[in-house]
Amino acid sequence: MTYRVNAAGHMEVGGCDLVQLARDHGTPLYVYDEATVRQRSAEYVAAMGRGGHVLYSAKAFASPHFLRIVAEEGLGLDVVSAGELDLALRSDFPRDRIHFLGNNKSREDVEAAWRAGATIVIDGSHEFDLLRAVVPEGKRTPVMLRISPGVKPDTLDHISTGQLDSKFGFSIESGAARKAVEEALRHPRLDVVGLHSHIGSQIFALGAYQKAMEIMLDLLVELRDELKFEPQKLGAGGGLGIAYTRNDDPPTPRDFVETVRHALESGCAARSLKVPELIVEPGRSIAGPAGVALYTVGSIKDIPGVRRYVAVDGGMGDNIRPKLYGARYEAVLASAPDRAPAGKVTIAGKYCESTDILITDIEMPELKSGDILCVPAAGAYCLAMASNYNGMPRPKVLMVRDGEARVMRRRETLADLVAAEVF
Ligand SMILES: Cc1ncc(COP(=O)(O)O)c(C=O)c1O
Repeated sequence: MTYRVNAAGHMEVGGCDLVQLARDHGTPLYVYDEATVRQRSAEYVAAMGRGGHVLYSAKAFASPHFLRIVAEEGLGLDVVSAGELDLALRSDFPRDRIHFLGNNKSREDVEAAWRAGATIVIDGSHEFDLLRAVVPEGKRTPVMLRISPGVKPDTLDHISTGQLDSKFGFSIESGAARKAVEEALRHPRLDVVGLHSHIGSQIFALGAYQKAMEIMLDLLVELRDELKFEPQKLGAGGGLGIAYTRNDDPPTPRDFVETVRHALESGCAARSLKVPELIVEPGRSIAGPAGVALYTVGSIKDIPGVRRYVAVDGGMGDNIRPKLYGARYEAVLASAPDRAPAGKVTIAGKYCESTDILITDIEMPELKSGDILCVPAAGAYCLAMASNYNGMPRPKVLMVRDGEARVMRRRETLADLVAAEVF
């Protein structure tokens, strides 16, 4: 939202010169733009209006200051572990807006969710027993059931979740969804407030959501007619894609919400169903465009006639996505973003794996050791999946706004790396 080229000819975000930030804070460095986080969140909330809730999906990226901003914009939160929940509670995230998802929840997960008063989204049958054991007799806890509508969206197989062959949720096609609702309604400790679905991530073609909604509403008709059950809430999941490269042209959060809402309202009207409250839970489309990664160029290796490798001081430890999903990124020279390209290079990381390549064959201007490279759209599922592989500390993270940079997470130290070791 706030990107521009400043008077020095450098990239600037949130009023902060990215080259200067790299000098002051070191690299690898992740920088989040507060204005973008707020704008994307507010666009979701405004598009939903009344009769719906937006949950931010903490798995995309979570840090206390980031979560406070999301909460201030009026969003709730989707967490998938006792760890994510603990971070949210320590960040004073409003408990009544938290949903606890995830397949194969442990007893500790369910206990933590119950203690926090979160809405639990049941993903598999074993949770019925866990909930019987955790929730005290005479009490009930609000739950939703994760349903797998059997829709395969236009995304990478690795991140599509709504089809029959998926580890997530109760499948409609196999009859498991209907059985799970029956069991949940009979369960003495559960208050079934809704059904939930999530069909995948990095989705551009919104038709998949319309299809999933139709299938969910057909299930609702069956549940109303045969079980007299009408859910108060219906979750359509997250999954809206973002632009990682100049060629990507994703729908906006407003397009996404309007498509899903229209499918819900017209589908309910056609089936004479009461319109449930709609819940969406975006992660990537809020955090992703708000964050950039900064790296310093180190060694440059030329293999004449084959390839030029430009190595940076991060890589698969802070961004596994290129190797995990074949995800594509771009990189920009932060000190001269408009300089003309001088040829193709491959941006390599510094991890001891030959697959540790951030970007293969990208046109870049002439680069030298010490240059700062900026990788845009690095705000989601990079730091969230970061590791200490090769004994590398995880990066420092900033939030910028109006020329001020606030440290959201300090750089890990060598002492952090051995904190859990027993010497
Ligand atoms: C159940 C569920 N909800 C929401 C999300 C967030 O998806 P995205 O970050 O693509 O919006 C995910 C992530 O895959 C998910 O598994």
